[in-house]
Amino acid sequence: MKALPSPVVFPPGFLLGTATASYQIEGAVSEGGRGESIWDRFSHTPGNVLNGDHGDVACDHYHRYAGDVALMRELGLGTYRFSFAWTRFQPDGTGGLNPAGVAFYDRLVDELLEAGIRPWATLYHWDLPQALEDAGGWPARDTAARFADYAAAVHEHFADRVGDWTTLNEPWCSAFLGYASGHHAPGRTDPAAAMAAAHHLLLAHGLAMQTMRSASPDLRYGITLNLYPVDAATPSASDQDAARRVDGIQNRWFLDPLFTGSYPADIHAELAGLLGDVVRDGDLATIAQPLDLLGINYYSRHVVRRAGPDEPADADTDGGEHGRRDPGWVGATDAVRVDTGKPTTAMGWEVDADGLYDVLVRVTKEYSPPPLYVTENGAAYTDIVTRDGDGTATVHDAERTAFLASHFAAANRAIDDGVDLRGYLVWSLLDNFEWAWGYDRRFGIVHVDFATQQRTLKDSAKWLATVAAANPS
Ligand code: FCB
Repeated sequence: MKALPSPVVFPPGFLLGTATASYQIEGAVSEGGRGESIWDRFSHTPGNVLNGDHGDVACDHYHRYAGDVALMRELGLGTYRFSFAWTRFQPDGTGGLNPAGVAFYDRLVDELLEAGIRPWATLYHWDLPQALEDAGGWPARDTAARFADYAAAVHEHFADRVGDWTTLNEPWCSAFLGYASGHHAPGRTDPAAAMAAAHHLLLAHGLAMQTMRSASPDLRYGITLNLYPVDAATPSASDQDAARRVDGIQNRWFLDPLFTGSYPADIHAELAGLLGDVVRDGDLATIAQPLDLLGINYYSRHVVRRAGPDEPADADTDGGEHGRRDPGWVGATDAVRVDTGKPTTAMGWEVDADGLYDVLVRVTKEYSPPPLYVTENGAAYTDIVTRDGDGTATVHDAERTAFLASHFAAANRAIDDGVDLRGYLVWSLLDNFEWAWGYDRRFGIVHVDFATQQRTLKDSAKWLATVAAANPS
């Protein structure tokens, strides 16, 4: 086995951990009174997910959470970002909390605390109760109010033990992959619905922030966005304009309302027809709540050019039918992603560690944000389980380890250059249900044999343990 890269040393107090999401790992979809979510319905509809995979069992984390927490403890990790499944608390999206759902997360949170690991809760990682989708989903304004009620009730119960809260994971994906491209649940293909969904997700975030902060002002609250540097493929005016529009809908459409209380004027003007009268007086003030932290999920950079007259937008989507990076860019329908020739991961996403540096510096310069956390970064590669000399199963995932080492180094460089980055959470603890790609794409630092549920530490996990040891929090 080749030597692992040296551990990256961050400033004192830097928080290290991993992230997961409820539907991707829990399984046990019919246990404990859990209700149906849009991902249950979507994944059980033929053609939506590669190989017909679904999250019915996933990593069986619902039953194996204690072993999974023990793994994190063994790796010496300081925090664990997981998501609450709304449908375990409110099976149809409204009403009092379901005791069995509360009990599951009580067990998980207490297990983490006993292991000395900070629980970091995300309230929404894409698994909307199907009953709320049936009532209109995120394009319906009432869903924002339902989310605020759910957040308030869950927060009230867990605020004594959970200190770090993120409202939404990647609202861009929920809105545009869920309602414009249809690559994700609920699988709608209606750009106007996607614009309404994006606004109501942000409104939901703002409403939840208000209620949680007024109940427990001393905890830490924020949101996680998936951000990308967007570069024009050439200096031509048309490619520059394509890059502006993609950046506008991908990044600024979320950053601007959160930090400046307004939507970016250029995109707002271009998409006014799609947006209609969705935005009401006072909404932007609600959305622009002060944040204690901003979570950034970083995977790759976009390099784009203007499409030719007869070329379909997003002709070059990475991933074909299950691809999920560029759903026609909604209004920016004349932009196409270009392949720059850099090495790619198994997702077809180009490896670009400098892009993480660029995103962190850009957000810092342009938005004066609160402390930043990388709430997700990682890579899918094809893993092979082998036996070491003593018969122990291992996965020598040199590419994933190198990916993480280069991105950690880029993050550290950003800190040296003045970025207030306080922590880094690797996606993901476990191989899991990678949405429309099912179990075909493995992001874990821990290998999961889905037939036996056997967990095996990959070299990347062993490397992360050396980083954790070099960075006691
Ligand atoms: C992010 C999602 C996460 C996982 C990674 C690979 O967009 O938040 O659930 O699928 O991508």
